[in-house]
Amino acid sequence: MSFPFCSVLCRLVLLLTPCSIAAFQFKCADMICTISKWTPSEDGTFLLDHVPDENFVLRLLHLKTDSLNVGMLSKVIPVMGTVNVENSPVKSVTLPASSNVTFLWVRRTHLSEITFEKDNVQLENLGIAKSRLKSVPATVVHLEAVKAIRIVESHLSTVNLNVFGTLRRLEQLDLSRNKIGFLHLTVTGPDAFPRLNSLFFTGNRLVTVSLHPFNVMPALETLDFATNRIVRVQGRLLSATMATLNLGQNRLSAVSCCGWNVSALSNLQLNNNNLEELPVCMEEAIPNITTLNLMSNALSNSGIWDRLLTLRRLIVLNVSYNRLTSAVFCAEWVAMQNLDMSHNRIRHLRVPLARQGLDIDVGCNLVEEFDLDDISRNVSTLYMHGNPIDCGWNGRELGNRGENAQCKRANEATCS
Ligand SMILES: *[C@@H]1O[C@H](CO)[C@@H](O)[C@H](O)[C@H]1NC(C)=O
Ligand SMILES: *[C@@H]1O[C@H](CO)[C@@H](O)[C@H](O)[C@H]1NC(C)=O
Ligand SMILES: *[C@@H]1O[C@H](CO)[C@@H](O)[C@H](O)[C@H]1NC(C)=O
Ligand SMILES: *[C@@H]1O[C@H](CO)[C@@H](O)[C@H](O)[C@H]1NC(C)=O
Ligand SMILES: *[C@@H]1O[C@H](CO)[C@@H](O)[C@H](O)[C@H]1NC(C)=O
Repeated sequence: MSFPFCSVLCRLVLLLTPCSIAAFQFKCADMICTISKWTPSEDGTFLLDHVPDENFVLRLLHLKTDSLNVGMLSKVIPVMGTVNVENSPVKSVTLPASSNVTFLWVRRTHLSEITFEKDNVQLENLGIAKSRLKSVPATVVHLEAVKAIRIVESHLSTVNLNVFGTLRRLEQLDLSRNKIGFLHLTVTGPDAFPRLNSLFFTGNRLVTVSLHPFNVMPALETLDFATNRIVRVQGRLLSATMATLNLGQNRLSAVSCCGWNVSALSNLQLNNNNLEELPVCMEEAIPNITTLNLMSNALSNSGIWDRLLTLRRLIVLNVSYNRLTSAVFCAEWVAMQNLDMSHNRIRHLRVPLARQGLDIDVGCNLVEEFDLDDISRNVSTLYMHGNPIDCGWNGRELGNRGENAQCKRANEATCS
C-alpha cells in the first residue's frame, strides 16, 4: 500500500510553517497524523482539513485544552480510526455517541473525568494510562461495542465491577497499577459478563480477595491478582473455563483449594509469598495443573515432594528460593520438563526416574555427596553450579546424557 502522504505533507509544511505565531505542529506519515501543541480555542479546527483521508491514527500531543470533546474531530476520524491523546493537561474528555473512534487511548494526562454518551456502537478499545481518574467512569456502561478496557497507572481506589457486567462484548479488563483496595462484585445473574475472559488487577493494594463472586463469569480464563498485598484468599473457585490464576507477589501464608472445581486450570502462580506449606486440597482440586510457580516462599517440609508427584501432568515446577533441604523422589515425574529447585538448602538429591528431556536446576544448594546412579540418565540437563560439589551436565551439548559427567569440588560458594 502506498499513499500520497509526501505531497500532502510537503504542501502542509509550506502552508503552515510560515505562520510562525501558530505554535502547533502538524505531521502525517505512515498513516499516522500527529498534531502537537494545538490550542483549539485559539488555533481553530482548520488544520483538521489537512488530515489525509487515508489516516488511521490521530495523535494529539501536548494538547492545550482542559476539556476535549472527541466530536470536534469527527470529520477526520476514518472508519476503524484510532485517537491517541498523550502528554496533555486535558482534564475531561467526552466521546459522543456518533463518534467513529474505534480505539481511544488517553495517556499521561490530567484526566479526572471521561464521559461516554449513550448508544456508542463504535468504540472497541479504551485505554487510559497515567491519568488522575479516581473511579471507573459511570458511563462506560454506554460502550456497547467495547471489547477491551484498560484503565492503568491511575488513581482508582474502590472499584464496582458490576458496572462492567452488562457490556456484552467485553473480553478484557485491565485495571493494573492503580490504588485499588476494594473490589465490589455482587452476583448479578446468569447473563452478566458474557464474554469476559481476562481480568487484571496487578499492582494494586488488595488485602483480601473473595474468589466466589468471579464464578458468575462464564468465559473467564485469566484472573490476575499479582503484586498486591493479599494476606487472605477466600471462597471457592468454581469455573469450567479458568486457565490461569495469578496470586504471585503477595503476602499469603496459606492458600486453600478445598472445594474448588476448576477443571481447566493449568497455570497457578503463587510465587513470592510466605507459604510454608503447599495449598490445602491441591491434589484433589487441581490434579491436571501443568505449570506451578512456588518460587520465593518459605517451603521447608520435604513432604511436599510426595504431594507434588501426584500432579501427573505437571510440566513446569518452580520451587526456587525456598528452604527445602532435600529432593529425594521415589516416583517418576511423568510429564515434567522443567524443574527449578535452585537457591534452596538441598543436601540430598535423588531423581532415579525421569521422563526423557527433563531439565533440572539445583544450582545454589548444599549438595556435597553425589552418586551418578541417583540421577536418571533421562535427565537432559542437570545444573549444579554453586553446590559444594558440581556434577552437572548438559546432555544437549554432550549428546550423551550424564555418561561423561564429571564432578568437581567447588572451593568457594558463588551464591548469595
Ligand atoms: C461514521 O462512519 C459512517 C460509515 O462510514 C459514516 O456514515 C458516518 O457519517 C460516520 N460518522 C461520523 C460522525 O463521522
Ligand atoms: C465441576 O463442574 C462441572 C461443570 O463445570 C460439573 O459437571 C461437575 O459436576 C462439577 N464437579 C463437582 C465435584 O462439583
Ligand atoms: C483431569 O483430566 C482428566 C482427563 O482429561 C479428566 O477426566 C478429569 O476430570 C480432570 N480432573 C479435574 C479435577 O479437572
Ligand atoms: C523460576 O523462577 C526464577 C526466578 O524468577 C526464574 O529465574 C526461573 O527461570 C524460573 N524457572 C522456571 C523453570 O521457570
Ligand atoms: C527413561 O525414559 C523412558 C521413556 O520415557 C522410561 O521408560 C524410563 O523408565 C526412563 N528411565 C529412567 C531411568 O528414568
